[in-house]
Amino acid sequence: MNKENVKIKFYSGENIPLELHKVRIVQKLNLVPIERRLEALYEGGFNTFRLSTKDVFLDMLTDSGTNAMSDMQLSSMMRADDAYAGSQSFYRLQQAVEDVLKKKYLLPVHQGRAAENILSNAYIRKKGDLIPMNYHFTTALAHITQYGGRIVELLYDEAYKIDSRHPFKGNLNVEKLDAVIRETGKENIPFIRMEASTNLIGGQPFSIQNMREVRKIADRYGIRLVLDASLLGENAYLILQREPEFADSSMAEVIAIITGLADIVYFSARKLSSSRGGGICTNDLAIYRELEALVPLFEGFLTYGGISVREIEAMAVGLYETLDETMICQSPQFISYLVESLTSKGVPMVTPPGVLGAHVDAMQICSHIPQTQYPAGALAAAFYLVSGVRGMERGSISNQRDENGNETYADMELLRLAVPRRVFTLSQIKYVEDRLVWLYENRNLIGGLKFVYEPPVLRFFMGGLEPVSDWTNKLIVKFKEDFGDSL
Ligand code: F0G
Repeated sequence: MNKENVKIKFYSGENIPLELHKVRIVQKLNLVPIERRLEALYEGGFNTFRLSTKDVFLDMLTDSGTNAMSDMQLSSMMRADDAYAGSQSFYRLQQAVEDVLKKKYLLPVHQGRAAENILSNAYIRKKGDLIPMNYHFTTALAHITQYGGRIVELLYDEAYKIDSRHPFKGNLNVEKLDAVIRETGKENIPFIRMEASTNLIGGQPFSIQNMREVRKIADRYGIRLVLDASLLGENAYLILQREPEFADSSMAEVIAIITGLADIVYFSARKLSSSRGGGICTNDLAIYRELEALVPLFEGFLTYGGISVREIEAMAVGLYETLDETMICQSPQFISYLVESLTSKGVPMVTPPGVLGAHVDAMQICSHIPQTQYPAGALAAAFYLVSGVRGMERGSISNQRDENGNETYADMELLRLAVPRRVFTLSQIKYVEDRLVWLYENRNLIGGLKFVYEPPVLRFFMGGLEPVSDWTNKLIVKFKEDFGDSL
């Protein structure tokens, strides 16, 4: 869009990011004392999802629904057209989807996982149907398995190496994809799923070259290619940075190429564009017809899909704003700043810096904690205790048990510190850095966790844990020695 602005990226040799926006509405934060933080951990089962925001200083749980909205988005919400059917707000969203994602048909849903529910319901026809993908996301996996499907994850080996600087760790391994399709039979593969900015491996992008190769294989066997576009803007931004063929392209061009390669594009608008909503879109009328009836069944009428019309207006404006590199680059630049400064101080981080958040390698930091005692969950709890910053466990607690009820241990044990778009200041990011370096230096004081309440589905959301030993108090004693009583 505005190429003049885009060139201003950092203003100093220290890679300090420069924001091209100003703050006009603010929300007051609390930093409660460490004793209260310990109580809050016990009340919330050592699960950061269960903390109340009154006990949270910086909320780095997620970017989902927490990115800052623009003045244009907020003002658009005021003109929303309240109607059960035929709302003008929906038609404006449909136009935005056509302009930005280049897809004619849109099915609105209340959030990303609702799209996963509808796609799994429509396309998983028999037990054991297989969905190959670059990597799973928790909700996608849960819906696929609910309908009797299975998944296979096909990344290249580099993706599993935390400190590899491979620019496109989210690439889908096309040699393996071909082999899996031949072994399984294309009739047992309802679709291939490609996730933009692959969330659970540290917000790592795929390249357009890779997606083109995946498309060729999909065409060769006649299998649908489904794109999870929840983090599409950021994937496109990293393509501009890292894929030489697109160094001079615009966000609009790159986004159009990516969505053009997929038969079906679905998204969580909570991440892609605004604060609520989601959608499924396609250019294929037959696909639209296959899915259409499920929207009124699960979501709401076809022109609101369970989303408020105000949020639909914000989605439409947000989709156009996704094309603005100065807007999309803000979170990845802060993440890059945080990851590089922590790496330079020895803290093991997922590299290269990805999107959505900075990802801390708990497997290495808590190498003294066995995976049976959830090192990433322990690190998330310990970091909240010593900072008031709430991150999210992205390790074995976020995994689900296999069909025989056995634990499955995650490939990576990560603490994710989300950096929602245009929400935090650089001094807050520096506070995160400072506290994490302190915790790293005192990492031997962190101990493991065990489940005391384990829900059968998506256990990480509401599960309850407790420490396996009295490690929290030891951490507090050391913290007070170093910082005194004031924090
Ligand atoms: N796909 C991806 C890649 C996601 O990151 C998410 C959500 C979803 C689908 C589901 O969308 O939440 O609107 O139902 N990710 C959030 C996160 C929850 O914190 O990473 P949803």
